[in-house]
Amino acid sequence: RQRESQSLYQLTEKAVDFYRQQLSSHPSAGRAVAYLRQRGLSGEIARDFAIGLAPPGWDNLLNALADTAEKADQLELAGLAIRRQDSDGQTKPGRRHHYDRFRDRIMFPIRDQRGRAIAFGGRVLGDEKPKYLNSPETPIFHKSRELYGLWEARQANRELKRLIVVEGYMDVVALAQHGIRCAVATLGTACGEEHIQLAFRHAAEIVFCFDGDKAGRSAAHRALEAALPQMQDGRSLRFLLLPEGEDPDTLVRQVGGERFEQLLDEQARPLEDFLFDLLGEGINLQTMDGRARLSKLAGPLLDQLPDGVYRQLMFQQLAARTGLDRATLEEVISAELARS
Ligand code: GTP
Ligand code: MN
Ligand code: MN
Ligand code: MN
Ligand code: MN
Repeated sequence: RQRESQSLYQLTEKAVDFYRQQLSSHPSAGRAVAYLRQRGLSGEIARDFAIGLAPPGWDNLLNALADTAEKADQLELAGLAIRRQDSDGQTKPGRRHHYDRFRDRIMFPIRDQRGRAIAFGGRVLGDEKPKYLNSPETPIFHKSRELYGLWEARQANRELKRLIVVEGYMDVVALAQHGIRCAVATLGTACGEEHIQLAFRHAAEIVFCFDGDKAGRSAAHRALEAALPQMQDGRSLRFLLLPEGEDPDTLVRQVGGERFEQLLDEQARPLEDFLFDLLGEGINLQTMDGRARLSKLAGPLLDQLPDGVYRQLMFQQLAARTGLDRATLEEVISAELARS
């Protein structure tokens, strides 16, 4: 099992090297380099993130890394090759029965906490669909547990005070290009409890900075719920929702790194404000009905907070906003929890 993983790490690292070589020497590299330039990325940043190119064609990687059937099977296990299904629905072993998963895409290697390459995200150079393709789950890659850019952020900072969680690969890389080397991204999945655990293992402050669209808002909502049980004293969580149509990549390219950091400092909302804003949407706290609704919504959420001063303060806030005393709030909460 462990030996199997060892060889998968090695193979994935070889693929990183291969894709990087292709970006510098394949006949189609010019177009890829132009694409990266046009997105504002320098060669230095492309190197830091080991960005590469999967050239067009069905078997470039297979030809380079798999000269035997066993090696093709290994590439399949690493998520880099796909076994062809014959018309009878059967699959047969053997190299000729595989093709490259990633073709004609810009390649972003995903590394684990220890810096080992474990998977890839691949972006098309144009408007084709799907825009991004990720490695499937493999014995060494579990996407719910990994953050793109975490290793690179740790390499660039002696001590990480905060991590900025963004949605996309390009956001991470563009922020780094502008000197903000502490951004990480989930891999096309919602930011869940394991991601937040991982982030808090490395920094005491997390700032979520999601796209200004519907997907970004619902991602923030889910991240908030996943984070609540982990809000021990001393940890801080903030949210910056970008203006409609912007993402960290487009914004930092417009305003630059310094102004972007300033925006984070000044405009990211602390968890307590963000939570009450979100829950309070459409609720009129001047009315008794509104105050009742807020306590029913917020109570069970706040109940997820671990014991500590922070929890006490949040309940005080809710009490102040609803005008209820602590004992009444607790009754409301247990009634709500019993109902669900
Ligand atoms: P760019 O156009 O390169 O700037 O992409 P983006 O990161 O801004 O894309 P978007 O905001 O639409 O998506 C955010 C993240 O969701 C991406 O970085 C991907 O990880 C993921 N994602 C987006 N589109 C797809 C897709 O078609 N398939 C998969 N599997 N993931 C996607
Ligand atoms: Mn998993
Ligand atoms: Mn988006
Ligand atoms: Mn985006
Ligand atoms: Mn984008």
